[in-house]
Amino acid sequence: MTNKTALVTGAASGIGKACAKRLARDGMAVGVVDILLDDAQRTADEINAEGGRAIAVQASIADRGQVAAAVSRIRKEFGPITVLVNNAGITDTTPFLDVTDELWERIYEVNVKGTFIMTQVVLPDMIAAGWGRIVNMSSSSAQTGSALMAPYSSSKGAIITLTRTLAAELGPLGITVNNIPPGVVMNTVMSEANKEKFPIPLETVRSMIPVRRTGEPDDIANACSWLCLEATGYVTGQTIGVNGGRIPS
Ligand SMILES: NC(=O)c1ccc[n+]([C@@H]2O[C@H](COP(=O)([O-])OP(=O)(O)OC[C@H]3O[C@@H](n4cnc5c(N)ncnc54)[C@H](O)[C@@H]3O)[C@@H](O)[C@H]2O)c1
Repeated sequence: MTNKTALVTGAASGIGKACAKRLARDGMAVGVVDILLDDAQRTADEINAEGGRAIAVQASIADRGQVAAAVSRIRKEFGPITVLVNNAGITDTTPFLDVTDELWERIYEVNVKGTFIMTQVVLPDMIAAGWGRIVNMSSSSAQTGSALMAPYSSSKGAIITLTRTLAAELGPLGITVNNIPPGVVMNTVMSEANKEKFPIPLETVRSMIPVRRTGEPDDIANACSWLCLEATGYVTGQTIGVNGGRIPS
């Protein structure tokens, strides 16, 4: 994969950071995109220190102007982007009757519209190359439903359907589109912030997972790496559960 350029959103921390580092180890040049520039720069620095190639670019995926500027900067530095990991996302826990229009719109603005904008801006490079890999980060909460997470889990359901739709539309062009719905992944900013809000103790959660542990960012990055391989060109439109066996796909 040494001649490929990848863009990973939300790569300043957690799962996105692990995906960016893994794709760099796979040989790709990586554009590290996040709203948090200092942390994104740290990801890029760690990749470069390991002998990889990365630059950090600040952008909100929900802002088309910022996305266009970020994409053209990465393209200028590393060439056409043919691997895209739409990982950036935000969450919230609020009882359904207390969800405001503003909260609903804020979550959809990032999780759904941001994924739409980023994909639309990057896609011409993949079409020109006749080859592309898109991996969208959904959530197991979209597969099971999740109490107190109506905007979040439904926005991730939209990501699963967008994945299937784009796979159908882009398959003839040599571009695969898949999604990973992570189960409970610890050691990310999002999961650490929400740890106390889990409806049941983490120990109980672990005992309900067949492999008896919660996930780590690298578990997701390994699946992401596989989906970006040349060899997985016949896998598209799929939901690749990485959840320790808790949820059947
Ligand atoms: N951690 C889990 O258990 C879990 C489970 C299911 C799904 N997910 C999904 O995996 C993805 C990564 O989650 P994580 O746990 O690593 O979270 P995280 O909070 O550690 O990382 C998310 C990153 O996205 C960035 N971001 C937020 N809004 C952005 C925007 N508008 N533009 C650009 N960047 C933005 C944040 O700054 C952050 O660096 C998310 O989409 C999340 O919904 C996580």
